[in-house]
Amino acid sequence: MCGIVGYVGKRDAVSLLLSGLRSLEYRGYDSSGIAVHTGAGISVVKRAGRLSVLEEALHERKVKGKCGIGHTRWATHGVATDINAHPFLSRCGKFAVVHNGILSNYLPLAAFLRERGVSLVSDTDSEVIAHLIDYYYTGDVLGAILRAIADVKGSFSLGVISVFEPNVVYGVRKDSPLIVGEGEGEYALCSDISGISFCDKYFPMDNGQVARITENGVTLYDFKGRKLPVSFVKRESDILDERELGTDDMLAEIRQIPTSLMIGHDSFPRERVRELFAEEVKDILVLGCGSAYHAGLVFAEAMREVAGECVRTEIASEFLTERPCVGKDTLVIAISQSGETADTLLAVGRAKEAGAKVLSLCNVRASSLVRQSDCALITRCGREMAVAATKSYVAQVQALLLICLEYADIKGKIAPSALDDFRAETAALSDKAEEVLRSESYIEKVALAAKDAEAVFFLGRKGDYAAAREGSLKLKEVSYLFSEAYPSGELKHGTLALMEHGVYGVIVATDPALFGKNAATVSEITCRGASAIVIAPASLAAEMPAGYVLCIPDAPPLFSPILSAVVMQLFAYYVAKARGCDVDRPRNLAKSVTVE
Ligand code: AGP
Repeated sequence: MCGIVGYVGKRDAVSLLLSGLRSLEYRGYDSSGIAVHTGAGISVVKRAGRLSVLEEALHERKVKGKCGIGHTRWATHGVATDINAHPFLSRCGKFAVVHNGILSNYLPLAAFLRERGVSLVSDTDSEVIAHLIDYYYTGDVLGAILRAIADVKGSFSLGVISVFEPNVVYGVRKDSPLIVGEGEGEYALCSDISGISFCDKYFPMDNGQVARITENGVTLYDFKGRKLPVSFVKRESDILDERELGTDDMLAEIRQIPTSLMIGHDSFPRERVRELFAEEVKDILVLGCGSAYHAGLVFAEAMREVAGECVRTEIASEFLTERPCVGKDTLVIAISQSGETADTLLAVGRAKEAGAKVLSLCNVRASSLVRQSDCALITRCGREMAVAATKSYVAQVQALLLICLEYADIKGKIAPSALDDFRAETAALSDKAEEVLRSESYIEKVALAAKDAEAVFFLGRKGDYAAAREGSLKLKEVSYLFSEAYPSGELKHGTLALMEHGVYGVIVATDPALFGKNAATVSEITCRGASAIVIAPASLAAEMPAGYVLCIPDAPPLFSPILSAVVMQLFAYYVAKARGCDVDRPRNLAKSVTVE
């Protein structure tokens, strides 16, 4: 949901801002823009459309400077036009501002400014901030920023530059993420660490902080203007952060899954997890959104099957209730790739207020969620750039299944021999995922056959149903095909009415114990004219009465959601490619949903 970046140092700010925006484009791609101190004032160049449109504009209009800010937008207020693109300039071009977040009181602020003769040119909530800072400026830039943000309600991270301080960038954070980075004789500001690869040290700003950044260092203030200590941490790099050039990010990230599974297995902090569950935990609640929530569903199913434990799962945005039904005996497991999803952060805040302890499962160590949690488990699958969660979802499921095994053991709910078998299997998952990847060209062929489906229903039972929900989300978000997931047993209670020629059913049928029921589901839909694609273990594939069978290696059903996920991710990817969709940047979406 919008990405912001800032730079001050000795190098060309334009190219560094652009490279930062390239890394942040996944956060929104409706428009982009930069504002740079040129020595003769602030130059702003901004364009609707992808970053490449801005790059072209900058090619024609040479802008040079060593200090500036940039923005990539996911539109919330006002359509995607050049005028609604950030940065926004105040009157006479004295201040330029980029904003990530949503201002809830921008209408009264706009009216306030208009009454004082300010003309606002855009339809956005963000523009008022530039004018407010200008309005309050009486010779002290920091003072004007502090005065302006005191008037503003909502969530915001800001980048601000002004003609009065040509070598200073200000960063402000309230409820939207912002990181300050340090390179050699240069400093930067960014919505996430991926956009400032030249900085080997960083610190995530906390809510209620303003950073004044020059090429000589950073001074940190609270919203009352009191100085705060600054402490940078060293950045850790990961082999899975690398991008495969010339391949779509989504496909490259799916292909990283075997390595990610290996790292996830070897680095799992077993002892720490056991300590956590050695304490009294009466109730477990899992919170997350989208794919992260689906990972929670797989966990709940595993906990029921392996540990006989009932785990509650809730979509984070649905948890924002007056009666959260959690207390001091509740362990909340908050799952999020980015750690910046607004709904998840708010839900976690609510659970903490009610006394719950929060364990976060997150892919970004420097994220708001990790800092907000009592303890954290970091999935180590590397940076995920494509909007569709692929390797991060698999890493979450892997970590949760490993947690489930430790939990079952510590509570005495699993026989030692069964535990040993499962543990051995967890070590084999990387190779099995590699095996799934070897069938990529067949999955592509099946995807081509289904590319013009009128609708695709993902069906399954128990763990396979949880996996089917993620498969369906993946397909709809990247291919725009209509898709829904249903428990197979529910078909005859209504959904079967939709089965006809042109409709596809993807039946996730990985559990040998449910073979008969799954085969019946296939027959039920094909005899009504729908086409069936079955995902089944290799040993059962030949017996499945379906036109297309996508095989996964044989594995205990507990682990099948990991392997079937890889199949369904590749299927979604190739359907989307065949339909000519922009797989990495699907329409209307953004990677990090930092607004409610
Ligand atoms: C999945 O492909 C998504 N794009 C989306 O559902 C995502 O999983 C969700 O927005 C949660 O994001 P998070 O893991 O960063 O919190």
